Amino acid sequence: MSTTSTVTVIVLAAGGGTRMKSKTMKVLHPISGRSMIGHVLHAVAALEPHRVVAVVGSQREQVGPHIQAQLPNAVLAVQETQDGTGHAVRIAWEALDPADRAGTVLVAYGDTPLLEGESLRAFAEDHLAAGRGVSILSGVVADPQGYGRVLRDSTGEVTGIVEQNDATEEQAAVTEINSGILAFDAGFLDSALPRLTNDNAKGEYYLTDAVQLARDDGLAVGAFSIEDVLQTEGANDRVQLAWLAKEKNRRILNRWMKEGVTIIDPDTTWVDVDVRLEHDVAILPGVQLLGTTVVAEDAVVGPDCTLKDVEVGEGARVVRTHAELAVIGAGASVGPFSYLRPGTDLGAGGKIGAFVETKNARIGDGAKVPHLSYVGDAEIGEGTNIGAGTIFANYDGVEKHRTVIGRHARTASNNTFVAPVNIGDGSGTGAGSVIREDVPPGALAVSAGPQRNIEGWTLRKRPGTAQADAASAGADPARRPNPPETR
Ligand code: UD1
Ligand code: CA
Repeated sequence: MSTTSTVTVIVLAAGGGTRMKSKTMKVLHPISGRSMIGHVLHAVAALEPHRVVAVVGSQREQVGPHIQAQLPNAVLAVQETQDGTGHAVRIAWEALDPADRAGTVLVAYGDTPLLEGESLRAFAEDHLAAGRGVSILSGVVADPQGYGRVLRDSTGEVTGIVEQNDATEEQAAVTEINSGILAFDAGFLDSALPRLTNDNAKGEYYLTDAVQLARDDGLAVGAFSIEDVLQTEGANDRVQLAWLAKEKNRRILNRWMKEGVTIIDPDTTWVDVDVRLEHDVAILPGVQLLGTTVVAEDAVVGPDCTLKDVEVGEGARVVRTHAELAVIGAGASVGPFSYLRPGTDLGAGGKIGAFVETKNARIGDGAKVPHLSYVGDAEIGEGTNIGAGTIFANYDGVEKHRTVIGRHARTASNNTFVAPVNIGDGSGTGAGSVIREDVPPGALAVSAGPQRNIEGWTLRKRPGTAQADAASAGADPARRPNPPETR
């Protein structure tokens, strides 16, 4: 922050999330490639907090490691029973080193995936500038049902927060709500926590009662209204989860379109939060760009692709493709119906065509695997062309082996490369070859023997069949039902 105060952030995530009806703890459900709490921690990091404390509940063995993977210095505080937000913050406070109980304390929830760091920062700065004991991040909503309402006196001064279950009819009509995010002066919070009671409709310790206590202490209190209330919205069930995911995605897409990316159909395009897209990238309908996928300038992706942790080079073209942990070079072409598995690295101007599966395969600049092939554990040199229907037989049933093919080779259709095998630069193969031995540079390898026609085989071996009828008719031009040239 631009101020001199240190900031401690308390993230509440002990609620069970029972309405998710899931083995997975609520805050771990992903949206746009990041857990809900991951989004919150990301926003929190923008404040450069001195310390972050996460309050976790019964499923701490799921959430704890997840939080510490993202923020190794985070303190975990375990709340055994969910006795309210006031109780949760007290547990967090006790988990803090006393020396860290200073400056500004921000309380946020772990299930608000749309939260942005900028909003937290603006709120914390307003709180400090106004010198308040407590500040409320408030919002005005059409339907305040379920929220704590922000109460104000006739002069507009904030006097407190009343929870839904404790509100009078008149109070319940207030549409300014407590988003849940609060900022405290550490000294005041320290004195307020022991004074909270559970004397209310829910029998819980309400953190929100601290607002009244601050007033009693003669401290300034106030609310900072957030225009974009959705940023503080939580997901309690999977319907809300899907809705927030759609909204988060919409925001991500809008940002990229404003950055110069063409997105033909935002309704069927999904882009994770850590994806990067350059100018003049075009995304056609039905595309998911996941993980840390990067797409360079002028590349066109789609329709109907799923790319996870993929690097797409400048001007490349990717159509109806499923790819993971792969690199697609500049100007290369992939698809339709291609499956690029981890370790695929296609060079500039290369091609992986229709019905081709690749894995752990380096395919050089300008090299092509255009049709119906499996390329596993292979290296293909620049400018080489692999014939249709080629199988790189990398697995002997026990171990995987590599096939290495040199530069500017021309392998024919329906080859099998039985690894380990090396095929030299500028070499070639015959159609239908099974290549088990190395091929020197410039050689033509032919493994199938010369063709032998065994005359009359069908009539002798399969008399009385349709095949035999056709064979005898075919041998007699006068009896052929459809001469080939008119077919
Ligand atoms: C709370 C606020 C309310 C606000 C609303 C915004 C209080 C008393 N009320 O109400 O003013 O409008 O949030 O959504 O603060 N949690 C714990 N431990 C607990 C209880 C809650 O960690 O013992 C966590 C939950 O996991 C959740 C957050 O705190 O992330 C809020 O809890 P919830 O029960 O949803 O509070 P509300 O009653 O909705
Ligand atoms: Ca709630």
